[in-house]
Amino acid sequence: MVIDPNTVMATLRADGLAVVPGVLDIATCSDVVARLEDVLVRRSEQGMFCGNAEYQVLYNYFMEDRALLPLIAPDIVDQVMKAAIDDDYVLISPSARNRQRRTDFQATSATSGIGWHIDSRRVGGMDPVVLRPSPIFFAIVVLDPLGPKNGATEYLVGSHLRYERPPDRDAKHEDRRVLEAEPGTIVFMDSALWHRVGPPSTERRWTLFNMYGPWFMKPYFDFSTMFSSDEADRMPPKYQQLLHYDSRPPRDHTESTITLRRVREAEGL
Ligand SMILES: [Fe+2]
Repeated sequence: MVIDPNTVMATLRADGLAVVPGVLDIATCSDVVARLEDVLVRRSEQGMFCGNAEYQVLYNYFMEDRALLPLIAPDIVDQVMKAAIDDDYVLISPSARNRQRRTDFQATSATSGIGWHIDSRRVGGMDPVVLRPSPIFFAIVVLDPLGPKNGATEYLVGSHLRYERPPDRDAKHEDRRVLEAEPGTIVFMDSALWHRVGPPSTERRWTLFNMYGPWFMKPYFDFSTMFSSDEADRMPPKYQQLLHYDSRPPRDHTESTITLRRVREAEGL
């Protein structure tokens, strides 16, 4: 299927959310889910953070299984993020999330995503404002059928244009919508959209929440510690860009006075 990134952008700008079905095939989704379940077991056995018995969260899901790394960079995600942010955009936070009530899982760590919120940023000191336009966007990769019965993301259409935080995380919004999507769908979301995770069910619903931002924004994690320098050198250039290898500050002024590698190389520095 040919997807026009301009059409996706128009919907994303107007509604704060755009759904693109059929990006991944079903076999790929099943394979990814099986791999995530393996990562969950491994982290759980080692006592690492993986959320709780109602919401399992795996940050940096590709750490133990490099076969999951390409999920940070599907073509349509690259096209939309370039249009939404800029050509040098980076990955800010990758997490895999399963809003499932499970009896095989004992961890009790609190997770993000509960209650109405935005994921954009505010600046302004004593009179803070939400950044406008949004510098941060999500690509949500749907891996299991997602809908109102299994804790899908709830959201308010167009609420990103308020550029405000929801004043009440527990408010009842009668006009809320629930994300419904088949496996293989990618959902683009403006980080200023008011949203929350739905109530847990016993049904599995793995999704990837990949958050992207401009190159000068700090990632949630230091990706450079997750890869050897050999592995980083062998990565496709797009992965190097997304994992901040192209926008790490130089060691000091004797190495360079410019942070962004694309600019450094263009200027021969
Ligand atoms: Fe969120």
